[in-house]
Amino acid sequence: MFHIFFLFFFSLQLLSFPSHAAVQDFCVGDLSLPEGPAGYSCKKPAKVTVNDFVFSGLGVTGNTSNLIKAAVTPAFSAQFPGVNGLGISMARLDLAVDGVVPLHTHPGGSEVLVVVEGTICAGFISSSANLVYFKSLKKGDIMVFPQGLLHFQINGGGTPAIAFVSFSSPSPGLQITAFALFANNLPSALVEKTTFLDDAQVKKLKAVLGGTG
Ligand SMILES: *[C@@H]1O[C@H](CO)[C@@H](O)[C@H](O)[C@H]1NC(C)=O
Repeated sequence: MFHIFFLFFFSLQLLSFPSHAAVQDFCVGDLSLPEGPAGYSCKKPAKVTVNDFVFSGLGVTGNTSNLIKAAVTPAFSAQFPGVNGLGISMARLDLAVDGVVPLHTHPGGSEVLVVVEGTICAGFISSSANLVYFKSLKKGDIMVFPQGLLHFQINGGGTPAIAFVSFSSPSPGLQITAFALFANNLPSALVEKTTFLDDAQVKKLKAVLGGTG
């Protein structure tokens, strides 16, 4: 009797938990819909073309005529819908002479950088003990920046530098700390209180970076 019950329940289990977990080859992002925590919704497979899996923008030198003399050209899911759902993405970094990608984080993913031209001084700061890891990188060197940690890249030579970076997320995000502090309308009094900087320094940086208040 027990065996019959067991078999009965076992068969029910098989019926109610069939092994048919959906496996999709890809989920090309439908950029016409908003991006959610899990990325974009999938484009209908019939509408997917090879061009969704190809991004040609990283062969083009970024425009470094700006305050930081640097340009980041992203191939994240918003620009390159083929990486949606795959947990990866890439970008190109151009650093003119004296260029810098100021202290920043990518909240969504870790980064690997490979220097292909010039010299780049790069580093990051740990969150647990604020330990600093930085080094001058030459052509062919790669460096990893763990997810969420503050890091920077500075052109360390007298010639333009180029690097390609890859991320462990199709949408790693980018927040530059100085812009977060001095390029918006966070009242100067609050910036001063929360950074220990004096009023003159805060006003000066707001003027340079476009902040108000
Ligand atoms: C580069 O950016 C600057 C500043 O936005 C702009 O004036 C210039 O035309 C741009 N150059 C190119 C080649 O797009």
